[in-house]
Amino acid sequence: MNLIVNVSENWAIGKGKSLLFHLSQDMKFFKSHTSGKTVVMGRKTLESLPGGNPLPNRKNIVLTRNSDYNPEGVTVYNSIKSFLADNEDNSDIYVIGGESLYRDLLPYCERAFVTKVDATVNDADAFMVNLDAHSDWEIEETSEELEEKGYTFRFVTYKKK
Ligand SMILES: NC(=O)c1ccc[n+]([C@@H]2O[C@H](COP(=O)([O-])OP(=O)(O)OC[C@H]3O[C@@H](n4cnc5c(N)ncnc54)[C@H](OP(=O)(O)O)[C@@H]3O)[C@@H](O)[C@H]2O)c1
Repeated sequence: MNLIVNVSENWAIGKGKSLLFHLSQDMKFFKSHTSGKTVVMGRKTLESLPGGNPLPNRKNIVLTRNSDYNPEGVTVYNSIKSFLADNEDNSDIYVIGGESLYRDLLPYCERAFVTKVDATVNDADAFMVNLDAHSDWEIEETSEELEEKGYTFRFVTYKKK
């Protein structure tokens, strides 16, 4: 399984249900990695997508503890255990958020595609595990520095040791 996320320097990922950064080059990177693949997300992340709709051209899996939740176009699981049991071959699955799913599915991921934005966000309310401080993870590849909307950022690939 893979994980894909954009983070600030202090590994912040969201504030008030929204993303911190809306960068078209990052969106393009996200699309190129996940198109034609399976994405898995928490219920709150699905509801934060435009119109609350699943992402096109991808199989969308959503986790919720609500057994009555069944939006159109989405495969729903009520536990990580049942999701993992049904998806043993998970090399083409991307965890796309939010905070709880990144944290709880990290142990099952082999690679993390992290867009690291050179900005510190002090008033964020959602965070990703800091992989630079995590002994199980190391950097495999770092892109050149990119720039957009006054931000500089890089695409950093982490792999599990
Ligand atoms: N920077 C990025 O790349 C990025 C990407 C995505 C999201 N985000 C940010 O992340 C934040 C949202 O994160 P979040 O943690 O609040 O929400 P979330 O992970 O999207 O959704 C949480 C919900 O998922 C369900 N869930 C979580 N763990 C579960 C489990 N083990 N079994 C069954 N259901 C489970 C629960 O739904 P029920 O309540 O329905 O039971 C839970 O309330 C927002 O700020 C958003 O902007 C950032």
